[in-house]
Amino acid sequence: MPIFATKDNLPSQLIDQLRTARQVVVLTGAGMSAESGVPTFRDAQTGLWAQYEPEELATPEAFRRNPRLVWEWYAWRKQLVNQAQPNPGHYALLAFEQHLPKFTLITQNVDGMHQRVGNTNVIELHGNINRFKRFNDNVIVESWADNGEVPPRCPQTGQLLRPDVVWFGEALPSKALSYAFEQAAACDLLFSIGTSGMVHPAADLPAVAKITIEINPDKTMLTNSMTYVLQGASGEILPALVKATWPRTGLPE
Ligand code: APR
Repeated sequence: MPIFATKDNLPSQLIDQLRTARQVVVLTGAGMSAESGVPTFRDAQTGLWAQYEPEELATPEAFRRNPRLVWEWYAWRKQLVNQAQPNPGHYALLAFEQHLPKFTLITQNVDGMHQRVGNTNVIELHGNINRFKRFNDNVIVESWADNGEVPPRCPQTGQLLRPDVVWFGEALPSKALSYAFEQAAACDLLFSIGTSGMVHPAADLPAVAKITIEINPDKTMLTNSMTYVLQGASGEILPALVKATWPRTGLPE
């Protein structure tokens, strides 16, 4: 059985393990950005978007059928994401990177929040909503002339552009995934934060790690196989953990 705790009774053994760790891996999911107000896929399906099934908005087939609709759905979500601000949990993970000899952040989120606060070693398993690539051959395209065409086209080849996110039915980026599993197997501690553990293969990462810590207000598919379970919001638990582990760290409120 895991050791259960909250921000008010953080296990002293865990604090020692974190302070002396050589390598820590963190896996984040949608709950990490919940306190920033980043809406989930479903939450963003308000107003005129409510009438569509996810398969009509986030699959290669949907893009082939109606590229404009898919582009506009992502433009809408990109706008929602970019209006949101990082929360205290994100800043606490920057402190992890600053204090630990080796720190790897693996995220299922496409909002780019970890990089926005300054984390550098971030593996994006599901891509990034602010990055774009050619539909036909997945080559990243940084910029294009905005001539009003939706979706825009690659300035070199004329191919349609799409967001660089993983759609339903698409494989995860294989290099990122194998690197993530390597790091999870090698690390001293792995944190699973704000993820329900229902989406594979990301949900298999904790199983290869030695010591695992879940941070989540609710029980998940992973809870029972954790070493520690810290019950609560990541925006509260993570700053408390940083303060307990490295007391002189300054964190934004
Ligand atoms: N702090 C920590 N965890 C939270 C918070 C919070 N403030 N609020 C909610 N959670 C938890 C929920 O209890 C839930 O377990 O975050 C988890 C979110 O689960 P999912 O919505 O299933 O998100 P995730 O695990 O990231 O799903 C993986 O599936 O829908 C796709 O693209 C989506 O990348 C995502 C993937």
